[in-house]
Amino acid sequence: YNISMAIEGSKQQVLEFLRRHRGEYISGEDLSRDLAISRTAVWKHIQSLRQEGYRIDAQTRRGYCLLATPDCFYPEEVTAGLETAWLGRTLYYYDEVGSTNQVAKELADDGAPEGTVIVAECQTGGRGRRGRSWISPARKGIWFSVILRPRVAPVQAPQLTLLAAVAVVAAVRERTGLPLGIKWPNDLLAGGRKVCGILTEIKAEIDAVEYIVLGIGLNANLEAGDFSPEVSPQATSLYLELGRPVERLPLFQRILSCLEKWYERWQDEGFAPVREAWKEASITLGQEVRVNSWREVFQGVALDIDDEGSLLVRDAGGRIRRFNSGEVSL
Ligand code: BTN
Repeated sequence: YNISMAIEGSKQQVLEFLRRHRGEYISGEDLSRDLAISRTAVWKHIQSLRQEGYRIDAQTRRGYCLLATPDCFYPEEVTAGLETAWLGRTLYYYDEVGSTNQVAKELADDGAPEGTVIVAECQTGGRGRRGRSWISPARKGIWFSVILRPRVAPVQAPQLTLLAAVAVVAAVRERTGLPLGIKWPNDLLAGGRKVCGILTEIKAEIDAVEYIVLGIGLNANLEAGDFSPEVSPQATSLYLELGRPVERLPLFQRILSCLEKWYERWQDEGFAPVREAWKEASITLGQEVRVNSWREVFQGVALDIDDEGSLLVRDAGGRIRRFNSGEVSL
């Protein structure tokens, strides 16, 4: 039995109580009686909740009233409005962490279940593709990783990356109205600049996937000055594109719903529906592109993606190349 857990527990109960009566005033007396804690304890919990960003009004005769919940990823906040069946039902929350992908891989190695989500308000060592770093300032973005254990062959894993891009595009559109474009394989752009990146890491045997960690970094409310001078010309945020801040929490919850829906569809129906949705949001196909793969730089017109998610590019001489990894510049 742990005394600090008991305190945390009764604080959660105070919050639950206020949440159930949101917009109403609840007397300290009622709270203290119903939760069997002292009036002083109630007051201390209210103070600590306020420190966490909950706006709670207190009036002498009427009591306490929950006015607003913070736009943070506290597990109780995420869970309160979550519409998924399994994705994000196991949730790890960090105010600050090195990299959620790193944590996710350690948890997956220890057997964490499919659908486990790791979310952080801030990453001190956020990682991007190709060994780059990912700027992840506190409470300005949506930085998270998902552990998945699909029953597919490793060659099909890239499909999941495209699927994630499709899910984020759908969620952002539903919540903000902003249409994002997908640059192959999975960079999300707004107004020609990158607003979201996806880092997929895999642990597999030659013929079976053990797990996949899907790391998603969405620049929600970053300001121009948050980006480093090197990335600044190519980077943007939803805030910068929309001209107003976005609520991160409902957007995060929506992304999790869309991911779950698309993932189930992929497992049931295969890649075809994902491919269609991906092509609809693509800003790569039909364009003259340069593909930087580990082997070569290839220039040509991006024709299509195949049923594995690979990019087909035709050069001036009519030769068609297939890429399953690489970096595209438009
Ligand atoms: C890219 O280079 O485009 C991929 C960026 C991926 C960033 C996300 S943020 C959450 C997760 N944790 C990380 O360290 N990286 C991914």
